Parts: sequence; C-alpha cells; structure tokens
Amino acid sequence: MALFDGIPEKNDRREESIHERISTVMTVEHLKIRYDELLVVEDLSLNLSQGEILSLVGPSGCGKTSIIKAILGLIPYEGNVKLFTSRVGYCPQKDILFDWMTVYENAILPLILKKERSPSNLKELFKRFGLSGFENKRPYQLSGGMRQRLSLLRAVLSGDELLILDEPFSSVDAYTRKKLQIWLSEEVYRMQSSVVLITHDVEEAVLLSDRILVLSNRPSKVLEEISVPLPKPRTLKTLTNPKFSQIEEGILEILMNQS
Ligand SMILES: Nc1ncnc2c1ncn2[C@@H]1O[C@H](COP(=O)(O)OP(=O)(O)OP(=O)(O)O)[C@@H](O)[C@H]1O
Ligand SMILES: [Mg+2]
Repeated sequence: MALFDGIPEKNDRREESIHERISTVMTVEHLKIRYDELLVVEDLSLNLSQGEILSLVGPSGCGKTSIIKAILGLIPYEGNVKLFTSRVGYCPQKDILFDWMTVYENAILPLILKKERSPSNLKELFKRFGLSGFENKRPYQLSGGMRQRLSLLRAVLSGDELLILDEPFSSVDAYTRKKLQIWLSEEVYRMQSSVVLITHDVEEAVLLSDRILVLSNRPSKVLEEISVPLPKPRTLKTLTNPKFSQIEEGILEILMNQS
C-alpha cells in the first residue's frame, strides 16, 4: 500500500509489521536510477531509524538529488522504497519561494495545499526559525540565511517526522552556513525528526550526522558507511573534538582515493 502521495505504482511500498514501524522510518532496497542511457545509481540500499540523521556525501553529479527524488516518488526508479510515515518535509536543492506571496504564506503553503489547520505552535516556530517580525515581508526582502530558514520551516510544516534536505545551506556564506548548521542540529534534536541530508560538504556531514554514506562517482554506489558517535545536539565545540577531524579526514581520503 502506498504511504506517500505521488508514488509510482510499479514500486513496492508495502506496509510493514508494527515492530519494523517503531524503529524504522524508511528503507531503500536495491535502488537503481537511469535517465535513458545514463545509469546514475546502480544498486543502493539504506535504512533510516527514528531520530537518526543520515547524510549522503558524494561528488557533484553522482546522483544525490536523483536518489532523493526517487525516494519522494518524483522520478521513476527500480527497486523498493518504503516510507513508514506520511509526515515528510522536503527542502529542495534550489529554494522554491514565491515572491508574490508573503513570508507567512510561503511558509504555510503545504498546510494550504493539504487543507490542514495551522499548528498551535506556529508563532513559536516563526520565532525559532528567526522569522518573527518578517511574516508580512516578501522572500526577496530576506537575507540568504533567512531564505534557507524559511525553506526549512516550510519543509517542517509539510511534515516533521522525516525531513529530506538537499544541500540546504549551499547558497550561503561560510559563517552563516556554520551558524545554520548548529541551529539545525538543535532544532532537529528538539523535534526528534529523522533526517536524510544531502551534502558534498564533508565537514557539514560530520557535524550534523549520526551516520554517513559515502557515495562513489556515477554510477553511484556506497563506498563506505561511517558512524559519527559524537554527542548531540552538536555545537561549535564539536568541531574541535579530535574524533571529529579523524572522521572528516577518513571520509576525504575515501573520496579522493576512488578511481
Ligand atoms: N531530469 C534529468 N534528465 C536527464 N539527466 C539528469 C536529470 N537529472 C539529473 N540528470 C543527470 O543525472 C546525474 C546526477 O544528477 P544529480 O542532480 O542527481 O546529481 P547530484 O549528485 O545531486 O549533483 P550536485 O552535487 O551537483 O547537486 C547528472 O549526470 C545529471 O546530468
Ligand atoms: Mg544535487
């Protein structure tokens, strides 16, 4: 049975046993993606547990965005994708904010589309996402960091159980990026969301994740799975933890040594 709207019917997304639902938010088995003759993903399997942050790190063009689109049922694929929640928020690589709508309207767009009522903590969410007082502005009146937070707020209002974030901080400067990463770590920890994070920034992956899948060049496959056993939520101090640089170096080595 399909658990998420817009899923290609040919794919298998059966409801699983109650036991599996408790701990697992998503499973992907033997995913294969091709665009006509171009084989992008060969054979990718992964799972995501409740409250876990999983990053996919890989070179540009290896198929990270395609994997996310397949998971969301936006493009055809072979293999099995199972989502155990329908409360899914998606933050695309390029933000899709509408300048003819206010910041408030942009944020609550998923609620309007799903004909859902606003959550009782909406005001507090605007505050936590640093958008309080800007509700009646337009996206072009926001800073880059604020636009990113607005995109993330929209994703959270779409569904905060599983957040799928595609390079959410790629368009901001290094300092804003670091601030947003620490902020996101706190927010996700507070919401107990499960997250799939796409990034080609190894430091970002180590800073935010519980687990990292290092992907190869196209056709992409998992080169290595790496655990990040650092305390959460992550802070600036995490960056100076010796384990942090050890893990970061290890990943860079894997990426650079691939043929
Ligand atoms: N709609 C499409 N039609 C044909 N080819 C596509 C399409 N979308 C992506 N591709 C190709 O698939 C490959 C993977 O693209 P994808 O956007 O998934 O990579 P990525 O890992 O997200 O890259 P980046 O890090 O630059 O965002 C690329 O070679 C790209 O040209
Ligand atoms: Mg991409």
